[in-house]
Amino acid sequence: MPVDVDAEVLSNTRLSAEYCVIALRAPELATAIQPGQFVMVRATHGETPILRRPYSIFDLLRDPSGAPFGFTLLNKRVGVGSRLLYDAAPGARFCCLGPLGRPFSLVSSPVEAWMVAGGVGLAPFATLTEALAARGTPMRLFYGARSAADLFCLDRFEPFGVSLALTTEDGSLGERGRVVLPLERDLAAAPASREVMLYACGPEAMLAAVGRLAGRFGRPSELAMERQMGCGMGGCYSCVVRVRTADGGSRYARSCIEGPIFKGDDVLWE
Ligand SMILES: Cc1cc2nc3c(=O)[nH]c(=O)nc-3n(C[C@H](O)[C@H](O)[C@H](O)COP(=O)(O)OP(=O)(O)OC[C@H]3O[C@@H](n4cnc5c(N)ncnc54)[C@H](O)[C@@H]3O)c2cc1C
Ligand code: FES
Repeated sequence: MPVDVDAEVLSNTRLSAEYCVIALRAPELATAIQPGQFVMVRATHGETPILRRPYSIFDLLRDPSGAPFGFTLLNKRVGVGSRLLYDAAPGARFCCLGPLGRPFSLVSSPVEAWMVAGGVGLAPFATLTEALAARGTPMRLFYGARSAADLFCLDRFEPFGVSLALTTEDGSLGERGRVVLPLERDLAAAPASREVMLYACGPEAMLAAVGRLAGRFGRPSELAMERQMGCGMGGCYSCVVRVRTADGGSRYARSCIEGPIFKGDDVLWE
C-alpha cells in the first residue's frame, strides 16, 4: 500500500551541472520499496509545479544495524521539477508517494543478470544490484553516456562484483559509441546454454533496441519504461504504453500501475 511521507533532505551532492544525488530520510518508504518501483515526488510546498514527478530509488540508506531509514535519488535536471531537486538544500522537505508500480523480477544463478543503462537510466540498478547480489546472481552492467563526465557512481556497482562495459558517444571513456554495441556483440558471442536476463532503463530508443536484441537472441528482457506521469496511481492515463494482447492485437497499459517494468516481448514500439 503506497504511503505519502514528508521526507527530509539529508544531503544533496552535485555530480555535475546537470546531475545530483539527493538523500532523503523516509524509513516507511525505504523499508517497503523494491528494485524498479518508483516514488512520486513533490519538490515544493508552493504551487509550481502542481504535479509530482516520478523518480526511481537510487540507493537505500541504512543505519549501523543495516535497517533502511532513507534513500537517494539520482536526479538529472531537465525542467522545473528536477531543477527544484537539483537546487534543494539539506533540511528541505519533499512529499514522496510510494512505493508505486511493479518491480523487476529477480533472477538467481546460474541465470546471469545483464543490466543496460543509458544516462540517468542508471538509477534503478543500484538497488537491483544489491538485491541480486544477495541471491548470488552473476551481474554485468552495460552503461553508456555522452562522455566520461556523464558516467557516474561506478563505486555503487564494483563492490558487488558487477562486471562493467562502459561506452561513451565521444570515446572519452570505454568503447566509443552507443551502449547497445557491446551488448549486441556479447549476446552474439554467448552460447544458448548460458542463461541471461536483460534489464534495461534509459532513453526510449535504447529500450527499443534492447527489446529487439532480446527478441533476436531469444533472451528474456525487462524494460523500465519512462513516461510522463501525472498521478502515478492509474487515474490520468498520461503514462500509457502500447502492449500486445494474447489475441495478437494491442492495448494501452498504464505504466504507473502495470509498469514501469514491462517484459520486452510485450511492448509495441510506435
Ligand atoms: C518511473 C520513472 C522513473 C524515473 N526516474 C528518474 C530518476 O531516477 N532520475 C531522473 O532524473 N529522472 C527520472 N525520471 C524522469 C523524471 O520523472 C523527469 O525527468 C521529470 O519528471 C521531469 O520533470 P521536470 O519538471 O524537471 O521537467 P518538465 O518541465 O516537466 O519537462 C522538461 C522536459 O523533459 C521532458 N520530460 C519530462 N518528463 C519526462 C519523462 N518521464 N520522460 C522523458 N521526458 C520527459 C518534457 O517533455 C520536457 O521536454 C523517471 C521517470 C519515470 C516515469
Ligand atoms: S500517471 Fe496517471 S495513470 Fe499513470
